[in-house]
Amino acid sequence: PKLVVTNREGETSEIEVEDGLTVMEAIRDNGFDELLALCGGCCSCATCHIHIDGGATDKLPAMSEDEDDLLESSEHRTENSRLSCQIPFTAELDGLKVTIAEED
Ligand code: FES
Repeated sequence: PKLVVTNREGETSEIEVEDGLTVMEAIRDNGFDELLALCGGCCSCATCHIHIDGGATDKLPAMSEDEDDLLESSEHRTENSRLSCQIPFTAELDGLKVTIAEED
């Protein structure tokens, strides 16, 4: 499946994602080093914050309380905010568009 990523400079690129990766891993492994993902996907750092574009948030797995709490610590939270390490990228999400959130 394909994931469409917009970086902090506003440049958009399409990446092909291997099955079984999270959205965070897909972004990080494709050279977007602005997505720090400091905790490596343990849902404890919030540096993998992204915005889901095009109202696709309802296609995603529900947010845990931990994710919600961490996002609350960001100044850039919007209703489309998610932590990308908490989203397994599956075939149903093909074509998902995300934007890397501003740095906190
Ligand atoms: Fe740390 Fe997602 S990588 S919360």
